[in-house]
Amino acid sequence: MKHVYIETFGCQMNKADSEHMLGLLDEINYRQTDEVDEADLILFNTCTIREAANSKFYSQLGKAGVRKKLKPNLLIGVGGCVAQNKEDLLQQQFPYVDIVFGTNNIQRLPDLVKLAESGKKVYEIEDELPYDLPEFPVIRQTQVTAWVNVILGCNFNCTYCIVPKVRGREKSRHPDSILSEIRKLAEEGCKEVTLLGQNVTAYGYDLSSNYSKQKATFGHILEDPEYSLAKLLRMVHKIDGIERIRFLTGHPFHVTDELIHTVAELPKACNYFHIPMQSGDDIVLKRMARVYTYEKYQTMVEKIRKEMPDASIISDFIVGFPGETHEQFMNTVKAVQELKFDACITAAYSPRPDTPGAMWEGQIPEEEKNARLRYLNLVVNEVVEQVNQKYTGTVQEILVEGKSQKNKSRLTGKTRGNRVVNFDGPDELIGKVVNVKITKMKPWALFGEIVNQEGIAYCISPA
Ligand code: SAH
Ligand code: SF4
Ligand code: F3S
Repeated sequence: MKHVYIETFGCQMNKADSEHMLGLLDEINYRQTDEVDEADLILFNTCTIREAANSKFYSQLGKAGVRKKLKPNLLIGVGGCVAQNKEDLLQQQFPYVDIVFGTNNIQRLPDLVKLAESGKKVYEIEDELPYDLPEFPVIRQTQVTAWVNVILGCNFNCTYCIVPKVRGREKSRHPDSILSEIRKLAEEGCKEVTLLGQNVTAYGYDLSSNYSKQKATFGHILEDPEYSLAKLLRMVHKIDGIERIRFLTGHPFHVTDELIHTVAELPKACNYFHIPMQSGDDIVLKRMARVYTYEKYQTMVEKIRKEMPDASIISDFIVGFPGETHEQFMNTVKAVQELKFDACITAAYSPRPDTPGAMWEGQIPEEEKNARLRYLNLVVNEVVEQVNQKYTGTVQEILVEGKSQKNKSRLTGKTRGNRVVNFDGPDELIGKVVNVKITKMKPWALFGEIVNQEGIAYCISPA
């Protein structure tokens, strides 16, 4: 038996891919280890969304190279979005890398490792995914919750974004394959599934018979699709044992009324919307090619909150996009204040190779971008703190996921809105849904105590 040490960068889709890589490697007797010294294979699943993600990976790759000097049999593999994008650079600059593979050929990993074991250097990148998305073996890192890829790729062309280049065009998995995976998960005790896609709100369009490749450019909504995210939610909802369903990440353009009604109607669908806005300024939005205006986004938020007043709405923002004026930046600040998001993921614009934005004039100096980011983060923290206040004293339904990382005598779980909550309780509650009264809040988590239906503190262990 051999050992693989895997390091994953980037989004949930990469995390889900890593679980499949571990499943595939298990078939050739590579078990996961948390001890890098024990590894026969160090595998990087990389992200290239911003330059900082690249740098983090390259610094870790350098360390792996040093290890290999001391242990020449050690294999080093690089997969994910950097590999898909930078094949040549990896070959030239890091000769100690044994395996380079892309996002479209994860299923080849066992064969590639076997080749590398026999002393060959392996570089294999595919431009397209295999036609049918297979159901890969998987070794999940979590038991109670699980990620399930439902659509890969993205047909939008946001002018700052490298994802369409490294993940290709949208490709949905057939519902039969998704449902079979989720049924298995339910049998194994999983309670919550998160349906994943770079643009999950476009799920199913490409499977529908009235889909036309020509029309399927960005900003395309298929009328009356045979398959859609709303329809998929209904199908997943019927699976016994699954108690919560989430999806991410969505694009505001594809958040249809039908999707909003469906989430509101289905008890198991969490009222959780991670729908990035990116900028609160119409001119910047247009230059980003986001295909909506601030007003449209605002209307979407109103519709969601009208049907689900307790909905959690999360947005991503980019500051310092080329040409962004101070006034335009302040429109983003205003948007955060006005729409009172439950959380925001913020970043300074990072020019990505071969994307239109990177080639435009009006690049904002790093210092200015960072100053805008710091200011926006201050505002975000104020807003989120205010929003968090509403939880104090309330009783929340928590799916208990396991023990808290920081304090092993505590349990941790999430609200339906995806808030982390820590509280004391017995291990038998892991995998169960319990009521927790929120007593304290910190920016990264809420704290509380278990209560019964009537809100009375639950007796944890009789003295
Ligand atoms: N599909 C999602 C986002 C996927 S990328 C959407 O359409 O919103 C995840 C996040 O990374 C984006 O929401 C964006 O905020 C950020 N991001 C993408 N490219 C970036 C860049 N070049 N610089 C800074 N942040 C970027
Ligand atoms: Fe990138 Fe835009 Fe696609 Fe999101 S919708 S992955 S930001 S191109
Ligand atoms: Fe990064 Fe690739 Fe995800 S670039 S954000 S890991 S799709």
